Amino acid sequence: MRTPSGLIPLIDQGVVEQVLRPLMSGKEAQVYLVLSDGEERVAKVYKDATHRSFKHRADYTEGRRAKNSRDQRAINKGSKHGKAQEEEAWRCAEVDMIYRLRAAGVRVPEPYHFLDGVLVMELVKDAEGNPAPRLGEVAMDAATAQRTFDYLIREVVKMLCAGVVHGDLSDFNVLMGADGPVIIDFPQSLDAAGNQNAREILLRDVANLNHFLLGHGAPEQPLKHGAEMWEKYARGDLRPDSVLTGKHKGSEARVDLMGLIRELEADERDEERRRAGRLA
Ligand SMILES: Nc1ncnc2c1ncn2[C@@H]1O[C@H](COP(=O)(O)OP(=O)(O)O)[C@@H](O)[C@H]1O
Ligand SMILES: [Mg+2]
Repeated sequence: MRTPSGLIPLIDQGVVEQVLRPLMSGKEAQVYLVLSDGEERVAKVYKDATHRSFKHRADYTEGRRAKNSRDQRAINKGSKHGKAQEEEAWRCAEVDMIYRLRAAGVRVPEPYHFLDGVLVMELVKDAEGNPAPRLGEVAMDAATAQRTFDYLIREVVKMLCAGVVHGDLSDFNVLMGADGPVIIDFPQSLDAAGNQNAREILLRDVANLNHFLLGHGAPEQPLKHGAEMWEKYARGDLRPDSVLTGKHKGSEARVDLMGLIRELEADERDEERRRAGRLA
């Protein structure tokens, strides 16, 4: 195949030996299967801001600061230099988050190189050694779905203990690797302590996992893991091995799960319409 332009600097610098094939074109990025340091890996090339469909970006970047005050002033002013700096901060956010999460013992892909805005990372594989499918593409029975949900809730707790909220968690950002589920896709992840929307975004992430579980025949019930873990976190009581009941009470932290799910479904429909419009 012709080398995609975003990968040419990596080939030139010997970080990537060969581009094997495109793996996936997602919302935010084009992902390629490549040969790097002699093994099959993934190269994630971020689409530039104008091609990005991510909504409400300011909600996520709130609290995120540039390296120096000149860059921050430029970002605030929205100048050309500012746009470039913001773009760079966005691209690096995924790498920063991945390192933070690995240090906290969360199972995320191992990063190998970050060069010219391209992240080269571990290829998450299924039992046959092929690129792992996304959770949303795998057929499973109710018991397996429940086990997967429980595992992912424990991962989200570990993430929150490390001060990280994913921000776009769904069954499409979880890969079913041979050794278990692997959460991916962190450019929009946020700092739980420094962002006033963190609680709301966490509840939304957890509602997405509830949505996945409901889709596998779980009885409709007010699962409140999100509110429960946030309350423990805010009190300073959340530990990586904290066991949640999902039966959180408390007036202040009540979650309208079905409302959130309806909102998510409306967002999905908007996205479908938008895509259909663009393809037409
Ligand atoms: N480390 C990886 N191993 C295997 N497949 C991956 C990996 N990273 C991404 N992918 C594939 O590429 C898709 C898009 O990547 P993702 O990081 O979710 O970006 P986007 O923001 O475009 O959704 C994923 O849904 C997955 O199928
Ligand atoms: Mg994704």
